[in-house]
Amino acid sequence: MKFLNIPKTLRFATATGAYQVEGAWNVSDKGVSMWDNVIHSKPENVVDRTTADVACDSYHQYKRDVEMLVELGVEYYRFSIAWSRLLPTGFSNIISEDGSNYYNNLINELIKNNIKPMVTLHHWDLPYVFEKMGGWTNEAVIDYFEEYARVVFELYGDRVKEWITFNEPQVLCLFDVFAVDSGFASETLVSGVSDYLCLHHSIKAHARVYHLYNNTFKPTQKGKLGTAPYTVWGESVSDSEEDIANAEKLMQFFVGWYTHPIYSDEGDYPPIVRKVIDENSARQGFKVSRLPRFTPEEVKYIRGTFDFMGFNFYTAVVPNTDRLDPKKAPSFENDLGFSMLQKDEWELSLITWLRVYPQGFRKITNWMVKQYGNHEIYILENGFATKRGLNDDNRIKYYTEYLTSLLEAIDDGCNITLYTAWTLMDNFEWTLGYLNPMGFYEVDFDSPNKTRVPRKSAKFYRQLIETRKLKVAD
Ligand code: BGC
Repeated sequence: MKFLNIPKTLRFATATGAYQVEGAWNVSDKGVSMWDNVIHSKPENVVDRTTADVACDSYHQYKRDVEMLVELGVEYYRFSIAWSRLLPTGFSNIISEDGSNYYNNLINELIKNNIKPMVTLHHWDLPYVFEKMGGWTNEAVIDYFEEYARVVFELYGDRVKEWITFNEPQVLCLFDVFAVDSGFASETLVSGVSDYLCLHHSIKAHARVYHLYNNTFKPTQKGKLGTAPYTVWGESVSDSEEDIANAEKLMQFFVGWYTHPIYSDEGDYPPIVRKVIDENSARQGFKVSRLPRFTPEEVKYIRGTFDFMGFNFYTAVVPNTDRLDPKKAPSFENDLGFSMLQKDEWELSLITWLRVYPQGFRKITNWMVKQYGNHEIYILENGFATKRGLNDDNRIKYYTEYLTSLLEAIDDGCNITLYTAWTLMDNFEWTLGYLNPMGFYEVDFDSPNKTRVPRKSAKFYRQLIETRKLKVAD
């Protein structure tokens, strides 16, 4: 055994998302989110036909959650606010007293215990009222998101100093492409059209909220704001020029699509994404490209809207060798031009898309730095699904290998200052229900208090944070 030193500059966090843990879906005056709606109207969309109506019941058990964070010794807790809990109608003219108290209490409890809150404004649970209006394909939602964000900054900005606007908006906008999770909550998906509109508006909404915070709140509240893009490592199947170019194309379609307008110096969509979708649209007889355009003013307004370069990272994919016909029906996948697969030799977790590819951490981080510059980097999610049970050695192995790769990226000169492990405790894994536990703590979903018990990996994370050393095999 040997030990790798963890630099002092790297801080540790763990995370959850409101819909996945809070429960209390209709307690008090809480409004309905798009997820509440889909889970109740189409129960068959969830593989084990469960709901998140109660989930981990963090709405009532939040003090226990904070206790666990103390046990782990993390410096930050990343959690999200359920827009429909704070603003039951979705609109900012009515603020729920119980909703606002809940987040107040959680934040105060964290601070009392020396844990810094890191708040995500939107972790996929759009109020259903906006879904009925077309979700993020409707530009008007940007204004409502800004007003929601204003309420949040006014209520909690005195104590919250780290903000994240969107969690993985690419996934939110692309649900059907992640076919393993088919049946995600959006009712408005027209692939190759609405996904582009949805992300276009999410990017504009992110920038709007950045400027709102920057101009109105940051001068006194002095926090930082960024976003949590989905990332994946696109590995080439061979050394051929074509395969390497396709792996890069995959990165630009899945990652750059969201990050290039925000993180790059030049702003706007990645040139290859622009070119391919413009060309395919023309071939298909569209008079106007299916990929919306930013005006030059918008490009300037959007680029640079981050105080840290955040991203989530779990796994890798390879572009398949098939070639999809660009003249076929519009779709994100046809624009990408090939399907994707994962190599059998990569160890599989319990989640079908989550295979182990630790070296991808170093690669993706260096890729981000090469693309966008050596900004301060926050890793906002990274984690693994195992069977139920407390002896989660394969989760410890996953974290050890991924963190080794992350330390290599730091040695390469990447300025990573925050690492967030997903997730604090087992929770509602969207359309996969409760079948894929990812937590440091196992939750007994049958017990009245949703009893949480630490796994072996909780001890691993605590020791890592305490000793600032990562134990690795020779
Ligand atoms: C999401 C989480 C989810 C995790 C594991 C991330 O993409 O942000 O909400 O639980 O993946 O699937």
